[in-house]
Amino acid sequence: MTTDSNPTKIPAHVSIIMDGNGRWAKKKHLPTIAGHRAGAATARAITEHAAKMGIQYLTLYTFSSENWLRDKAWINDFMGLLRWYLGSEIKDIMAQGVRVRVIGDRTLFPEDIQTLIAETEIKTQHNTTITVILALSYGGRDEILRAVRTLATKAQRGEIAPEAIDIATLEGVLDTASMPHPDLLIRTSGEQRISNFLLWQMAYTEFVFVPELWPDFTPEIFEQAINDYQHRKRRYGTD
Ligand code: IPE
Ligand code: IPE
Ligand code: MG
Repeated sequence: MTTDSNPTKIPAHVSIIMDGNGRWAKKKHLPTIAGHRAGAATARAITEHAAKMGIQYLTLYTFSSENWLRDKAWINDFMGLLRWYLGSEIKDIMAQGVRVRVIGDRTLFPEDIQTLIAETEIKTQHNTTITVILALSYGGRDEILRAVRTLATKAQRGEIAPEAIDIATLEGVLDTASMPHPDLLIRTSGEQRISNFLLWQMAYTEFVFVPELWPDFTPEIFEQAINDYQHRKRRYGTD
């Protein structure tokens, strides 16, 4: 635990690239899916801890638009895990008062998973402890592309004038409309890249990279990352 964290500077929104599940499983000579299962347990522990710390939004990069290009067996196993997570974990999620939102192109999932996503969002919509945003079939480029298409369609129908489109208009048609931008991004596993996550929203986000693989990530390491953030000076290009 860190002792000098400043409660007045708790980030409102933390986003996490939960990377390294496959390497964790490989190191332990376990099937890859065991790494993802362990990763799901970490996600749950970190969600609980983030809520305790007073963080309002936690965005978890769970499955990227590029992850569809992985091999079929892996995708199949991962879909199974997602079914379990959205089907069974939901009871605990409810008990903790977590509101779940999903960003990404959900239409690419099998129908039963799309139903589970919709049910989870509806069941948890009035929860207030913390909002967990699951990025599922999510890619920043894909999100911006879909937003541009939405606006182009509106313009074509005469519902909006092209010259009236400003930053707020585009923000309003992103998957993250009405959610704040992340203050802090944490990426595990030693990789130091953005991998198509929240490209628009992270224009001024602070980045913390940690070497631990996601299943080995702990509330203590999370607190240390928050502590690093609290010692940063954010400038937004204006001073
Ligand atoms: C991150 O774990 C989670 C997903 C991409 C679904 P990886 O599967 O990328 O794990 P590594 O990077 O291969 O270790
Ligand atoms: C990013 O990790 C996606 C998720 C954590 C869901 P990847 O493992 O897919 O990204 P790269 O391939 O290392 O850039
Ligand atoms: Mg990876």
